[in-house]
Amino acid sequence: MTRKFDFLVIGSGIAGISFALKACRYGKVALLSKSSLDNSNTAYAQGGIAAVTYSPDSFEKHIADTLNAGDGHCDLAAVEKVIKEAPEQIDELLSWGIDFDRDEKGKFDLHKEGGHSEFRILHHKDNTGFEIQQALIRKLRSEKNIEVFENYFAIEILTQHHLGEVVTMHTPNIECYGAYVLNQETNHIHTFLSKVTLLATGGIGSVYATTTNPDVATGDGIAMVHRARGVISDMEFVQFHPTALYHPGERPTFLITEAIRGYGAVLRTQDGREFMHKYDERGSLAPRDIVARAIDNEMKTRGHDYVFLDVTHKDAKETKKHFPNIYKKCLELGVDITKDYIPVSPTQHYLCGGIAVDLNARSSINRLYAAGECSCTGLHGANRLASNSLIEAIVYADAAVKDAVKYIGTYTWNELIPDWDDEGTKLPEEMVLITQSFREVEQIMSTYVGIVRSNLRLKRAMSRLEILFKETEDLFDRSVVSRELCELRNVISVAYLIIKHALRRKESRGLHYTVDYPKRMNRGEYRE
Ligand code: FAD
Ligand code: SIN
Repeated sequence: MTRKFDFLVIGSGIAGISFALKACRYGKVALLSKSSLDNSNTAYAQGGIAAVTYSPDSFEKHIADTLNAGDGHCDLAAVEKVIKEAPEQIDELLSWGIDFDRDEKGKFDLHKEGGHSEFRILHHKDNTGFEIQQALIRKLRSEKNIEVFENYFAIEILTQHHLGEVVTMHTPNIECYGAYVLNQETNHIHTFLSKVTLLATGGIGSVYATTTNPDVATGDGIAMVHRARGVISDMEFVQFHPTALYHPGERPTFLITEAIRGYGAVLRTQDGREFMHKYDERGSLAPRDIVARAIDNEMKTRGHDYVFLDVTHKDAKETKKHFPNIYKKCLELGVDITKDYIPVSPTQHYLCGGIAVDLNARSSINRLYAAGECSCTGLHGANRLASNSLIEAIVYADAAVKDAVKYIGTYTWNELIPDWDDEGTKLPEEMVLITQSFREVEQIMSTYVGIVRSNLRLKRAMSRLEILFKETEDLFDRSVVSRELCELRNVISVAYLIIKHALRRKESRGLHYTVDYPKRMNRGEYRE
């Protein structure tokens, strides 16, 4: 039941796989994915990956755009790190066989998205993430020092708590020794002991009723660290993408990339009027928080469920060439984007907060690193600049390897960790209640903790969630563990953290907008 590795990687998106590909030069790696390897947010990325490539772009401009989108809440050191290290990491991706579009002269064909002052998005048509995910998996399969565990679900990270010690958030030197992991084919729970563990568990979209994220996005890493008493930051900053395709019932919601607005598409109300200039001089290309709030306002004041995105004025051949998947998807639903307006509405898309890490991707728990969407590096601040997350994931995964190899020689496996104890547990009588509780969490979060918030809504969400929390913890204590039950626990923890951090922030900033405190405070005025 016990497996031992130098590095344990939990997650098979860009953060997890790129870490594994580098760490395997220094030791044996186990890489876990709770689903198939290619089921990740990474595989869904459309627009591309932001990096400074050619003049007139510059590090200074990319840094300024990131800070501006982040609304005064970014960590400058993290911003400088990601943007300055991006070109080197892009070269690494190219060396792994990832193909970005180029023009006839062989220069990269760069796209532009909201909040970017220059064309700087490297992309592979309109399905960049799929191209990256496939190339990473090909490379992963060729590495002998990496053992891949598909359909293995990490339940808990192991700490002194599992040795019977009392661990609180004030315990100095909490240490991570690996994880308890459920093999979903055999239902056995294995102990994976590691010298170093990386959490790369991705997003939290499943906490909301509509999201662009696939169903694996249940915030497991964040919930595990929260239960292990590690530090979680900035959870109130949930990003809603302004332009998800309006097609009720489809999950995940299909994204209409922001790059299409960089290409010239404009937002219109249902009566065909442009409205974004009422809200921001950058119009349809303002940063995401501003555009999503503007659309939300237009929809609410008019009683509409969607607005339109119009790209009909652009050359039809060029549109099909740049956005072939969006063209195909919309056509299947009867919308020819070269002739018809596209119905769109804002949808949960990304989380800026997560497991707090330093510039070396170290979490507050020793021997535990985090990278990618589950982490909070300080790069995005209160609102992520489009296409800054894939690059953040690979830069911080690289930082984690570089830091971990300095210390790994001093770590040993903690062989005192006991096997998972499931004595006295039985199968839950009514599985249907787990599904029902899941739906309730999504409804609570979408109704009360969306784009526009208030104290009343947040408090109501919290009291509804408390009931679900008590019921679920009780069920967990007496039940045989299943992935469904663990994911329910995790989405409840994530929802709790979002509400708690939102209630704490007595101002509006970036993605957190509350009618009770509509203004942004000055730095000195804000107290947590
Ligand atoms: P993911 O790619 O989500 O991978 C997480 C992995 O963790 C999955 O393999 C999952 O199975 C595994 N996992 C989770 N929990 C467990 C567990 N308990 N046990 C075992 N395994 C587990 N960003 C950009 O920069 N540019 C874009 O153009 C862009 N477009 C996007 C479009 C869409 C539709 C979406 C959804 C996101 C987009 N993003 C984009 C955001 C970006 O894709 C993600 O932030 C990024 O890919 C996250 O990578 P990751 O490695 O952190 O996590
Ligand atoms: C998009 O293509 O619009 C998504 C880009 C991102 O989320 O960074």
